Order: sequence, then structure tokens, then C-alpha cells
Amino acid sequence: MGLKFAIALSGRGSNMLALHDVIAAMPDKARCVCVIADKDCLGLEKAKERGLEAHHVSYKELGKDAAEAQIIARLQEHQIDFLLLAGFMRILSPTFVEAFPQKIINIHPSLLPKYKGVETHRRALEAGDAHHGATVHFVTAELDDGPILCQAAIPIQPDDTEDTLAARLLPAEHWLYQTVVRALIKGDLTEENGTYHWKTAPHCDVSDVIVTDCPIAR
Ligand code: GRF
Repeated sequence: MGLKFAIALSGRGSNMLALHDVIAAMPDKARCVCVIADKDCLGLEKAKERGLEAHHVSYKELGKDAAEAQIIARLQEHQIDFLLLAGFMRILSPTFVEAFPQKIINIHPSLLPKYKGVETHRRALEAGDAHHGATVHFVTAELDDGPILCQAAIPIQPDDTEDTLAARLLPAEHWLYQTVVRALIKGDLTEENGTYHWKTAPHCDVSDVIVTDCPIAR
């Protein structure tokens, strides 16, 4: 049966598609059991186009508590191994996070611990940083704060704007999230005494992308 993944999103769904590519490539080892969105969005349509079980759980109509309860029930029904947040723009309550300990993974568009929260590209530019990047990490009750699984950085160019920086970071995000999920499926990123370690550091051949942080088994 393999690992069961659910994906949650709020927007265009490019990370969801990248993740689904990896999961669908190993059907004997992994499955995407459902995609959940907190609103009607392009990502939900894309998931349906791929024939995935796709749910719109409206936070607006239900309110946060009832919406979360529906999502938790759905994920428990599916007995998921991991929930992958892919541009899911809601903060999960402690109750939600505690229902899936070390099972919720997020991608955040900054080199955490820098720039938790929103507008990360603007903040990196305003700070005059040499690099910007993305982090894949476990979700805890603290915003953008859980244990880091891997980070990838790209150089900031002198003429970068928020838009160009976001556009150049996106392929690095896809590579990073795909690499983490592929490693979980293949057993190259494994848990020991509550901590995840890579067997070997992932290598990135996407131009300009540098792998900056990944815990390696010693
Ligand atoms: C990505 O930049 C992700 O890092 C952030 O939201 C964006 C989602 O983009 N959390 P997409 O919907 O996956 O295209």
C-alpha cells in the first residue's frame, strides 16, 4: 500500500502538481489520497483534472473550528501518513497539529528562521540579503517554526523585484519539496528517536539553487 499523502492548498497549486508528479511516479510505494482546499481555487481544479479526490472545505462558511474538524476527520478516515501543506494559507490550531504529530509538513518561501509569516520576498529584498530561499519543515503549533528537513537558496540579483524573486524561487521550491517527499517515499529520509535524518545530502542540479541545510545521519 505504501505511504499515504494528503495535500492542502489555497491557491494556484503548482507545488501540489510537483508533489503529485513524484508520488504518482511510485504507485507501489505511495499514493495521494486527497487534496483539500480552504476555498475554491485553481489548485483544486488542477487536482480534479488529475482525477484526485478533491475537497473544498469552506472556512468562510463553516468557521475555522468546524472546517478543521471536517479536515481532521477526512485525514483520519484515510489514515494518512503525511499531510503536505502546499500554499495552504491558514494557520492550523494546536488541536489540529496535535492530531498529526510529525506528520504535517510545510514549504515556506524563506530561509527560516528568517521571515516567518507573509511577504517574505519583500522582506528579503528590503534587508539587502545576498540570498533568498525556501524551507521544508515539520509543522508545530508555533508559526513556521518546526524542525527543518531541508532548505534551498538562490542568489538575489541586484535588479530583482518581489515578482522576479518569487518567480525565480518557485522552481527551487518545487525541487526542494519533491526531493523531500521522494526521499520519504524511498527511505532516504528516515526517523530515529523522533528526529528525521537524510542518508546522504541531496544534490541539486537546478541552476543557481544551493542546498543549505539538511540534517544528515552521522
Ligand atoms: C509558494 O510560494 C509556497 O511557498 C507558499 O505559497 C506559494 C504557493 O504556490 N507557501 P502554489 O500554489 O504552490 O503555486
